[in-house]
Amino acid sequence: MKLTEELRRQLRVTVDYTNMTDKYLGDKGISQKTLDAHKKLAKEAHAYVTANRGKDELFMGWTELPYNQAEVVADILETAKLVRRKFEAFVVLGIGGSALGPTMAFNALCHLHYNDLSKSMRRGPRFYVEDNVDPVRMKELLDVIDVKKTCFNVISKSGATSETMTQYLIIADLLKKAGVDVKENVIFTTDASRGNLVKISKELGGVKSFVLGDGVGGRFSELSPVGLLPAAVLGIDIKALLKGAAYMDKLCKPSDFRKNPALMCATLQYISMQNGKNIGVMMPYSDNLHYLSDWYAQLWAESLGKNVTLDGTPCNVGQTPVKALGVTDQHSQVQLYTEGPYDKVVTFLSVGSYKYKSPIPNGCESIPDVSFLGGHTMEELIQAENKATAFALTKAGRLNYTINVPEINAFTLGELLFLFELQTAYAGAMLRIDTFNQPGVEAGKKATFALLGKPGYAEQKKALDAAESDPEYIV
Ligand code: PA5
Repeated sequence: MKLTEELRRQLRVTVDYTNMTDKYLGDKGISQKTLDAHKKLAKEAHAYVTANRGKDELFMGWTELPYNQAEVVADILETAKLVRRKFEAFVVLGIGGSALGPTMAFNALCHLHYNDLSKSMRRGPRFYVEDNVDPVRMKELLDVIDVKKTCFNVISKSGATSETMTQYLIIADLLKKAGVDVKENVIFTTDASRGNLVKISKELGGVKSFVLGDGVGGRFSELSPVGLLPAAVLGIDIKALLKGAAYMDKLCKPSDFRKNPALMCATLQYISMQNGKNIGVMMPYSDNLHYLSDWYAQLWAESLGKNVTLDGTPCNVGQTPVKALGVTDQHSQVQLYTEGPYDKVVTFLSVGSYKYKSPIPNGCESIPDVSFLGGHTMEELIQAENKATAFALTKAGRLNYTINVPEINAFTLGELLFLFELQTAYAGAMLRIDTFNQPGVEAGKKATFALLGKPGYAEQKKALDAAESDPEYIV
């Protein structure tokens, strides 16, 4: 992708918060006075994030990913070329931040029925992300791949996640049984020196591995090898992805929220949360952005859902992310958004130009209720429905804003990822929490270790056994 300054401007993602303001929502909206009252807090959050950029010890290494990976990108592109040549399928084994990003980029930038395309149309291996330990899912994956002709990208920062390590044990066993040298069919993405994948690599005599840097947590890792390798294997322009992220980073340099899209989104969400808007709906009007909502849900939920501030004061903060798809969920959830409790902020992702327009043919001339559709395009229809839904919500006094995506490509996806990552970092700073830890997730991981008999967890096992369901309360 040749990115001139003019093209960058045309591809600029913007935030339209008209429908958050009291000018359009009356007393349900946010006034300029309220916004101005949060100017100082927003500036402080911006200063905090800016001052801590790149600090591994604060898990803020992700801010530098658009700039510091030239060598890694070259290695990824070389590796991806080999994988594309050698393998029929590419399977990501990972969970949470190690899986949601690859799924999201695949969905956003590849054909929506990629795996069903012929080999010549696909031009790369079939692609799967296995982010669960549902035994049925694993068994049925094995029905559609030939392990000997499959590359498994095992992604785990800690190398200790039971789900991912279980999947690894299964495929390593199958590869061995098939007479394959395991290290030929696996690629690890993990910590530089810690964790079980590092040990396994040594045991196997060296596995091709990519490093997930110290300062990059799972949910902020899509622009690291976690996301870049699968994307490159799919033929996605990963350099454009990083350039899009860098462009959004540049757009978010100002400390004035009226000039910084991520800071404005964070401030609007912060004010909304303080006013009891505990639910944040992400509603892309695009099937290609469907899984962006899943990726965002983890980023927003795991980062902001905390019970203590940085200075140790107890709190219970966060906003529950809800995933919706336009127009599909207009016929399912929008009734609730329009008339239910005033507890939500709806974020629309609107696309300026779709890859295809899909003209609607004329027909049914004797039935005006149908024939009016003819002569339009499906693009016009989906855009009209997007606009109509935002209008209806605004009329009903419901907070909503729109992120305009001129078109969906690697550059604009990079912009979106960085917009949401910065928004999350700013919002966490406003809430004065540790945005980058996940003690709640770790607690569940440890309880699983205990239940399955991992050494060192005997005490926790006793507590878990004592917490068995009480038959008195089972009906
Ligand atoms: O965002 C996070 O840090 C988590 O969701 C992790 O990505 C997830 O728990 C998987 O952890 P790991 O990469 O260590 O296997």
